[in-house]
Amino acid sequence: MPTNRQILLDNRPQGEATVSNFKLVSTETPALQDGQVLVRHHYLSLDPYMRGRMNESKSYAQPQPLGEVMIGGTVGEVVESRHPKFSAGDKVVGMGGWQEYSVVDAAQPGALRKVDTTHVPLSHYLGAVGMPGVTAWYGLVKIIDPKAGDTVVVSAAAGAVGSAYGALAKARGCRVVGIAGGKDKCDYVVNELGFDACIDYKEHKDAYSLAKALKQACPNGIDGYFENVGGMVLDAVLLRMNAHGRIAVCGMIAGYDGQPLPLANPALILVNRLKIQGFIVSEHMEVWPEALKELGTLVGTGKLRPRESVAQGIEAAPEAFLGLLKGKNFGKQLVKL
Ligand SMILES: NC(=O)c1ccc[n+]([C@@H]2O[C@H](COP(=O)([O-])OP(=O)(O)OC[C@H]3O[C@@H](n4cnc5c(N)ncnc54)[C@H](OP(=O)(O)O)[C@@H]3O)[C@@H](O)[C@H]2O)c1
Repeated sequence: MPTNRQILLDNRPQGEATVSNFKLVSTETPALQDGQVLVRHHYLSLDPYMRGRMNESKSYAQPQPLGEVMIGGTVGEVVESRHPKFSAGDKVVGMGGWQEYSVVDAAQPGALRKVDTTHVPLSHYLGAVGMPGVTAWYGLVKIIDPKAGDTVVVSAAAGAVGSAYGALAKARGCRVVGIAGGKDKCDYVVNELGFDACIDYKEHKDAYSLAKALKQACPNGIDGYFENVGGMVLDAVLLRMNAHGRIAVCGMIAGYDGQPLPLANPALILVNRLKIQGFIVSEHMEVWPEALKELGTLVGTGKLRPRESVAQGIEAAPEAFLGLLKGKNFGKQLVKL
C-alpha cells in the first residue's frame, strides 16, 4: 500500500491562523477491508469554512479534532476497490481530507460519488459543480428567489461561490452586480463571468463611499444580496436595499480570523422590511441534485467558466489556505496532489 502524506491540525489558532497550526506527516496506507475503496486524490478543495473548524468554539459543526487529518473535499481516482459498485479508474468526489490518499467505507451513504468528466473537468466538482456552486444556487433560488429584472448583488464575486452565483442569476434574467477586491478581479467578473458591473471595495474607505458606487451600479436599488464577507460591505449594501429585499447570509469571511464585525445601521432592516436568512448548504441535501444539474449544464455549455487557483503538492496546502482568507486566491482555491 502507498505511503500517504497528510496535513494534521496540530494546535488551535490564537487570533489569526498561521502555518504553525498545521503539521505534515507521512503514514502507511492500511490494507483494504471488504466494502472499502482506496482513492488517490487529484485535487483538494480549500474552503473558508475550514477556518471555523480550527476553533474550539460552538458552531453549526463540531470543531476539527487536534492531531487528525484536516477535513476537506477531494476529487480523485479509485486505485483499488473491495466494493462492488466501484472499480479502479473510477473518478470520484468525497471528503477525503488534506491527504494524498484515503480509504473510504464506500457503503456509507454519500461517502463517495462517481462523477462524469466527459463535459466537466474533474476539478470543477469541487467548485462550480460542487459544494460552492450548490451554495450559490441555494441562496439565490431558495432565499433571494429573484424575478427577471431584479437587481441582485454578491460579495466575493470572483470566488468559487460568487462566480457561480453570477451565472445562475444571469440565467434568471437579473441585473447582477459583483463586489470584489481589486481591478483584475472586477475585470474578470464583468468580462469573463458576464456580470453587469463590479465594484472594487478596496477603492472605498468607508461604507458611504461604497454605497455611492453601488447606487451608480444599481440605479433601481438592490432586491437581493448574497452576503459572503460582512463588515463594511454589508453596511454599504444595507444602505441601498429596496423595500422587501432579501439577503442570503452565506458567509462573513472578513471576521473569520476573529475580527469584530459590527453592524452600523440595523434599523435599515426594519425600515426596508428586509428578509435576512442564514443557511448552511450541507443542511439542504435535497436540493443538490437539481442544483448540480443546472450548474453542470452551465459549465458544460460554457456559460459558466470558473477560474481556479491551484497550489502544488500537499505541503503547499496551509499557505494556500491562509492566502484564501486574505483574498490571494483568484477563483476556486485548489491543491493539486
Ligand atoms: N453557508 C454555507 O453553507 C457556505 C458554503 C460555502 C461557502 N460559504 C461562504 O461563502 C463565502 C465564499 O466562499 P468561497 O469558497 O467562494 O471563497 P472565495 O470567494 O473563493 O474566496 C474567499 C474570498 O473572500 C474574499 N475576502 C477575504 N477576506 C475578505 C475581507 N476581509 N473582506 C472582503 N472580502 C474578503 C476574498 O476575495 P476579494 O479579493 O474579492 O476580497 C477571497 O478571495 C465564504 O464566506 C464562505 O465561508 C458558505
